[in-house]
Amino acid sequence: MKRKITEALNTKMNAVHAGANRQKLHLMADIGWISDPNGLARLNGTTHIFHQYTPDKANGLEKSWGHYTTKDYIHYIDEGTLMCPDKPFDKDGCYSGSGMVINDKLHLYYTGNHLQDGDFDYINEGRGHDTVHLSSDDGHNFTERKVLLENKDYPANMSCHVRDPKLSWVDGKLYMVLGARTKDSQGCALLYEVNPDHPEDLQFVQVIESPKLTGYMWECPDLVDLDGQTVLICCPQGIETDGLNYENIYQNGWYSLKKNEEGRFEAFDFQELDNGFDFYAPQSFRDEKGREILIGWMGMPDADYDYPEEKEGWIHCLTLPRELHWKDGRIWQYPVAELEELRSEKQDLTLEAGVPVVLNDRVFELQAAVDNKPFELSLRRDVKLSWNGQVLSLSLQESGHGRKSRHIETDHVDSLQIFSDESSLEIFINRGEYCFSTRVYDQHQPLSILCDRTMKAELYSLQSIEVDFTPALQG
Ligand code: FRU
Repeated sequence: MKRKITEALNTKMNAVHAGANRQKLHLMADIGWISDPNGLARLNGTTHIFHQYTPDKANGLEKSWGHYTTKDYIHYIDEGTLMCPDKPFDKDGCYSGSGMVINDKLHLYYTGNHLQDGDFDYINEGRGHDTVHLSSDDGHNFTERKVLLENKDYPANMSCHVRDPKLSWVDGKLYMVLGARTKDSQGCALLYEVNPDHPEDLQFVQVIESPKLTGYMWECPDLVDLDGQTVLICCPQGIETDGLNYENIYQNGWYSLKKNEEGRFEAFDFQELDNGFDFYAPQSFRDEKGREILIGWMGMPDADYDYPEEKEGWIHCLTLPRELHWKDGRIWQYPVAELEELRSEKQDLTLEAGVPVVLNDRVFELQAAVDNKPFELSLRRDVKLSWNGQVLSLSLQESGHGRKSRHIETDHVDSLQIFSDESSLEIFINRGEYCFSTRVYDQHQPLSILCDRTMKAELYSLQSIEVDFTPALQG
């Protein structure tokens, strides 16, 4: 669906695109709101990145699906809006969902959100969450949207909140998981088997539950078979902060899955995927090289900190695409190799203790060897990353717009890889063992890097990704 270019739209778009906080390395909405990545899939050499999108408005209401494509994670095309909430079953939002190429067709599954008028709690009454399907041969022209499941089809003890269908292959079977909240407010996921010869045919298998750390709702579940370990990545809501764990309002992470004697999946040992302020609703897909690639929303719903770009008519961005692996009992994630193409100049730095290195650009990649010795590294305006031998802390002051500190408990830190963009940082620790993602707002301020001890680092200048917005527009 193309948008008509009017003079007003053109003026607004130029103003938004000139905004000082606009990112150079991360996907954003042309104007308006972007959140969960949806329908990630690779079809005929092109990666499709759909996403939650409110065109023109930064308020996140009336969710549509936006659509980007890329072949290389450097050049992107804005393909326009795939669908808006204009059917009775999705009139209050085309909510999140996923994509899967089955027999050369791209199949999309999403949640149609529809509310009844009246005096309802919208948890156990008054809301419909339908599982809807559409498909395409070319990734651009899709069949009519068709409802496959309604709330009455889900297990009887589920509340109205059952959403975010995600398809994955595990042990040679094609599954769909849905995130859910039971009537007594326990988070869980529903597992269905999908018939690859009839992708609209869904057979309920079981409810996946965890004995602890369930919260009241699991959003955006993603079943992933990672180097022989099956995990359920998801976003539980309602898990309380416990010491230095679960510091955000809503969590992102994974449960390890194992099958019990009856062959049912059980979820256990919830661990966080990204300990930064701004990471939610990630989704992964398998590309043709067999890589499991994950993209997240670099934002946090209902957070008590700000996104000042909202005043400029746009809000949020997606994370860099990350490759996932399973090693030593956890998920490791690091930026996809394609991003090395963005590097231009390289500087070999020796950060001398207490001597600041002035930076003339916010957009850079810094790789530093840390050698497992405690350190304190200040970067940009007022961001501090420090490790005392037990806890790695990320703290921000004014540039955090309400973001204060986040932590990772770890007894070793041997390397840092930091992607700094106009208004964000993604910090990969120990070559992908841990990660902090955060927005940061320090435009018009001098920038530097300062370490309290000598550290060797490589600093790369980075070119921007290129996004062609014109295909989404018509004159
Ligand atoms: C997660 C989420 C999903 C839902 C979508 C609506 O951020 O709440 O559960 O489908 O956003 O935009």
